[in-house]
Amino acid sequence: MTPSKFRPATHLLVCTNARAPDDPLRSGCGAHGPAVFAALKREALARAMASRVWVTATGCMGQCPPSGCAVAVYPRNEHLVAVVEDDAPAIFQRAITP
Ligand code: FES
Repeated sequence: MTPSKFRPATHLLVCTNARAPDDPLRSGCGAHGPAVFAALKREALARAMASRVWVTATGCMGQCPPSGCAVAVYPRNEHLVAVVEDDAPAIFQRAITP
């Protein structure tokens, strides 16, 4: 294995996992995750920060909120739940603020 030289300053991981509505683990983040992912990508592009702030769609991160989706912010190791598309600008700003 070789460490990559490509590393973001901030990495936003957005759960887009979708489960069936009757799944015992609830329906997952699929109803909101893709829109949150797209909104955070737009923020990165609009601020010309896409090379430093990476936004990645993921599977389940174990949070499984009953509404919205889960977002993890690294390197802060901050996990947000019940995230909806309108939260994207605030999440992005908070993530890049020292
Ligand atoms: S389904 Fe999104 S965190 Fe579990």
